[in-house]
Amino acid sequence: MAIAATKTVAFNKGASVQDTALAKHDLSQTEWRKAWGIDKNAQIRLVRLAFMQYQHPDLEVVKRFMLDFGMTPVKTTEQDVWFRGYGSDAYVYHARKGSKAFLGGAFVAETFQDLERYAMIKDDTPLLTNGIEKMDHAPGGGSIVTSTDPEGFPLSLVYGEDQREPDEMPPEILMNDEVRKPRQRKFQRFTAGPATVFRLGHYGLVVSDFERQSRFYASNFNLVPSTLLHVDIPATEGEPQRMYVAMFSHIDRGTELVDHHSFFLAQAAPGGETHVHHSSFEIHDLDSQMMGHDWLKKQGYRLVWGIGRHIAGSQIFDYWRDPNDFMVEHYIDGDIVNEDTPVSRDLASSAQDAAWGPEVPDDFTR
Ligand SMILES: [Fe+2]
Repeated sequence: MAIAATKTVAFNKGASVQDTALAKHDLSQTEWRKAWGIDKNAQIRLVRLAFMQYQHPDLEVVKRFMLDFGMTPVKTTEQDVWFRGYGSDAYVYHARKGSKAFLGGAFVAETFQDLERYAMIKDDTPLLTNGIEKMDHAPGGGSIVTSTDPEGFPLSLVYGEDQREPDEMPPEILMNDEVRKPRQRKFQRFTAGPATVFRLGHYGLVVSDFERQSRFYASNFNLVPSTLLHVDIPATEGEPQRMYVAMFSHIDRGTELVDHHSFFLAQAAPGGETHVHHSSFEIHDLDSQMMGHDWLKKQGYRLVWGIGRHIAGSQIFDYWRDPNDFMVEHYIDGDIVNEDTPVSRDLASSAQDAAWGPEVPDDFTR
């Protein structure tokens, strides 16, 4: 009697693993500061990422998209639209009328003096604002100063913006698993529509000189890498040479837990263009993400990559193109870290890996 060959497979599994137990080639944040020669006390202190700024030729088209993406317009003028999420920020996205342009992210600074220090940071680049300006026209008010990084990407610091009373959080959807059944005599019911945006999570740039750009951000601001990605260049003799090509940075708030990355930088491919890669907005849960995905698809917008789960940052992601080709992301379940989280170092190829989801398309990596 013939015996069938036994096929063995390793079944999939998942776990939430402690940060210190993960990285094989990690170093502490203190060691990283020492290696990069970073003086923590000389830095401009960021508190959190507040809003993104983009310029679009047709504000009505952007408004339509942002509604479908899950943002609420707070104020509209001839020249501007400000959109909010349901969290406490007065707004998370500022669209200005004009030719297509990326106008930069805006971080909340710890003090007004941080804005003054930023305005003085270097005198060879003119400020894009008239010194420190009052944002009387914008929801929440406050002050802003905008300058550029060494490659000319705008970057704003804001202070004194009023926060709003957040809307009530969408209800938690109870999930039964194979053993635990907390959802007793309660049935799952949903209403289709856009995934409502909670807040801005992060954004990132594709740059031509990663080394210079990463030094600029990591020296001047309390931005600390959670993950550094490198490529290894084979050497004629000895160890291959390690070249860093991407940095996912959190805002250092000491022991306070913060997002794994609020800002990232990636080296452009040789001959590739520099550009803003994407900005990313946090939404509620997986059901809202799936329904938001369906909604955007039905409206005919262009999907880039999703839905899947990242490795660096662990987020469940969904990337789309807005009508002017800027990439925006919905995410849930991102990692949170603090000063005790090691700086993990990994091969750049891992950034294109996902724990699960579709293959990464060229449109994401360009
Ligand atoms: Fe992202």
